[in-house]
Amino acid sequence: MDNIKIITTEDGSHSLYHEGLKETYHSFHGALQESVHVFIEKGVRFWRTKSGLPKQVDIFEVGFGTGLNALLAAQFAMENELKINFTTIEPFPLDMGIINQLNYATSIGQDDLKDVFEQLHTSEWENTIDINKYFSLHKCKTKLEDFDTSKRFDVLFFDAFAPNKQAELWTVDLMLKCFNLLRDGAVFTTYSAKGQLKRDLKSVGFEVETLPGPPGKKEMVRGIVN
Ligand SMILES: C[S@@+](CC[C@H](N)C(=O)[O-])C[C@H]1O[C@@H](n2cnc3c(N)ncnc32)[C@H](O)[C@@H]1O
Repeated sequence: MDNIKIITTEDGSHSLYHEGLKETYHSFHGALQESVHVFIEKGVRFWRTKSGLPKQVDIFEVGFGTGLNALLAAQFAMENELKINFTTIEPFPLDMGIINQLNYATSIGQDDLKDVFEQLHTSEWENTIDINKYFSLHKCKTKLEDFDTSKRFDVLFFDAFAPNKQAELWTVDLMLKCFNLLRDGAVFTTYSAKGQLKRDLKSVGFEVETLPGPPGKKEMVRGIVN
C-alpha cells in the first residue's frame, strides 16, 4: 500500500492520505473529533436517546477503513452497556502494517482499547464475531453498489470518500439503497453537507437536518426515516 500514508490531524489523532485520490480518510482538523461528533454524538447517541434508551442497536457503516468509527462505537457500547451489532463494508481493506501504527486507543485516552482495535481488524470477514459482551462485528469485503442483505438497521454511518472524489457513491440510487436498509425511526449520518446530497436524501424519503459540523467544518447532514 505504497499509495497510503499516515498523517497526524490537528487533534493529534492519525488519519491516512490516499495519494491516488489525493484525499484523506478523515478531516484534517481532527480525525477523532470528527468521528465522535458525526457518527457517535449525532448518530448512535442521538438515535438511542430519541428511541427511549433501548438495550440494542443495529448499525451499518459504509467504509470500514481504519476502523476508527467501529472502535468508537465499541467504546460507546461498553460505556453505556448497550449491545451494538455493527455491520460494515470495505472493498479495499488496509494492511495490518498500517493499522498497527495508528494511535487511536492512545488518542481516545484508553490504552485498553488497543486490544479491541486489533480484534476489529483481525476478526474474520463475512462472519458475525463477538468482540465482547456489548459489541459484535460483521465485516463484508464488498462495495456498497454490490452489497446485498436482508438485515435492516437503526443507524447508518455514511463514511465514503468525499463526493468530489468518489461521486459514484453519493448517487440518488445509492441513497435510496441506504434508505431501504433502514427501519422506521432510523438515522443516517454523514460528514458531508452538500446541497445535492440533501436534495437526494429528501427525494428518497428521508427527513433531512443540517447540523453544526465537527471542529473546522461548518455543517453536516443527518437523515431520519419517519
Ligand atoms: C473516508 S474513508 C473512511 C473509512 C473509515 N470509516 C475510517 O474511519 O477510516 C472511505 C472508505 O470507503 C471505502 N470505499 C471505497 N469505495 C467503496 C465502495 N464502493 N463501497 C464502500 N466503501 C468504499 C474506502 O476504501 C475507505 O476505506
